[in-house]
Amino acid sequence: MTLAFALLGLASHIPPSATKLIDATHSYFQSQFDNLELTRSGKFGMSRIEVSSIGSHVRSGKDPSYSNKEYATSFRIFGSSGHPLSPETVALRYSRFPGGGHSDDSLASRSWAIPGFDEGKKIKTIVAGLAKGVSWPVQGPKSKLIWQARPIVLSKKECLSCHSGLLVGDPVAIAVYVLNPIVKRTGAK
Ligand code: HEC
Repeated sequence: MTLAFALLGLASHIPPSATKLIDATHSYFQSQFDNLELTRSGKFGMSRIEVSSIGSHVRSGKDPSYSNKEYATSFRIFGSSGHPLSPETVALRYSRFPGGGHSDDSLASRSWAIPGFDEGKKIKTIVAGLAKGVSWPVQGPKSKLIWQARPIVLSKKECLSCHSGLLVGDPVAIAVYVLNPIVKRTGAK
């Protein structure tokens, strides 16, 4: 199944503007991992959007969702430390919340957790289903917060020199995007 089909099959509680932002952000993160210019020194500015726990991958700091005007976005990566994903070892590997400038009272939800939704459990379920095939992207429940998970894949054969036990095209991590709509304030204070 192609990605286009998977996207067409989505239930439509995610507005097109959110899908577009996640598309752009996900391409950005995937392309950062695709970049084989490896350095361990992290000289390239370990700013808040840089992945500090994933030492070999360089970031250029152009995450399109970081200062978006319509949605504040939190972003997480779940993985098994670069080893094949398994429900026993999958863990939160990286997390960032939105930058400053999104004051609490301008957001649709004050909490970044979706009521009744266990993200960690959902990730384990996704990982457990990988062998059978997962229909990406995976969406969270309808809520003020938009939750979506997408795979970060091993895109090149060069990846396999370090990521053994996996094939080109296999997911090596799961990226989670949570979008919190920015609500325009009405009325004067
Ligand atoms: C020189 C070795 C090396 C190469 C080549 C490499 N990686 Fe990695 N990658 C690692 C290591 C080591 C980790 C885990 C680092 C850690 O444990 O903090 C990792 C982690 C990751 C992660 C996060 C998973 C997690 O749980 O930490 C992703 C995604 C990833 N690599 C993608 C890629 C892709 C895509 C390629 C090929 C384009 C690639 N890597 C090539 C060494 C490499």
